[in-house]
Amino acid sequence: MNDKTDLHLEDDEKHILLDHKYDNIQELDNPLPSWWKLTFYLGIIFAIFYFILYSIMGAPSLRDDFKKEWAGIEELHEKFNRLNGKYDEVKMLAIIKDGGVKKGQVVFETNCIPCHKAKGIGDIGPNLTDEYWINSKGTVDTNYPVVFNGVPDKGMPTWSQTLSNDEIYQVVSYVQTLHNTHQPGGKDPQGNKVEDEVKK
Ligand code: HEC
Repeated sequence: MNDKTDLHLEDDEKHILLDHKYDNIQELDNPLPSWWKLTFYLGIIFAIFYFILYSIMGAPSLRDDFKKEWAGIEELHEKFNRLNGKYDEVKMLAIIKDGGVKKGQVVFETNCIPCHKAKGIGDIGPNLTDEYWINSKGTVDTNYPVVFNGVPDKGMPTWSQTLSNDEIYQVVSYVQTLHNTHQPGGKDPQGNKVEDEVKK
């Protein structure tokens, strides 16, 4: 039994004195402060809501939020490039992966045939199937700005005014497949010969 007489206890504390003594230390069984209990219960309620929201109702995770933000950044980046007529290699790869060459053939047949003829053999516009190029080197990155800006003085329209960015990338990826194919009946070479290490 504890020797309660050593302690100076208030009347209302006597009944909460615990019935043990360790190294001569005695404790009172005080209730936890109410602010502490409130925080604890609020924590539990928060955890339940949090669990339901994210694990059951499928609220967007941090990763989803990031993906959304990233898509926004990519969209801005594309808009910026488009504004500046800047070629974007990553965009071109995505377009090619998404069947860009086939789609580009349709764009070509709809818009470019009047001057470059079917398969790009050339008429008003130069032959796109030889290794001679006036404004570019026949590669996607050097053809992109020519198609985007056109060569208005020489009769090549500014396609950024009529085609979407995707269509320009698609048609440029298609034009790339014509390069060095030497289609029969092609227009005589114009411009400079481009030595191409990657022969088709
Ligand atoms: C109204 C006629 C016309 C149309 C339509 C036209 N082009 Fe052209 N294109 C030209 C002319 C003319 C040139 C040569 C410009 C020069 O002499 O600098 C040219 C040049 C080019 C070149 C660069 C060739 C080089 O040797 O530098 C590419 C690539 C090209 N066109 C692609 C296209 C594509 C793709 C389309 C369709 C979206 C298209 N063109 C539609 C007239 C046209």
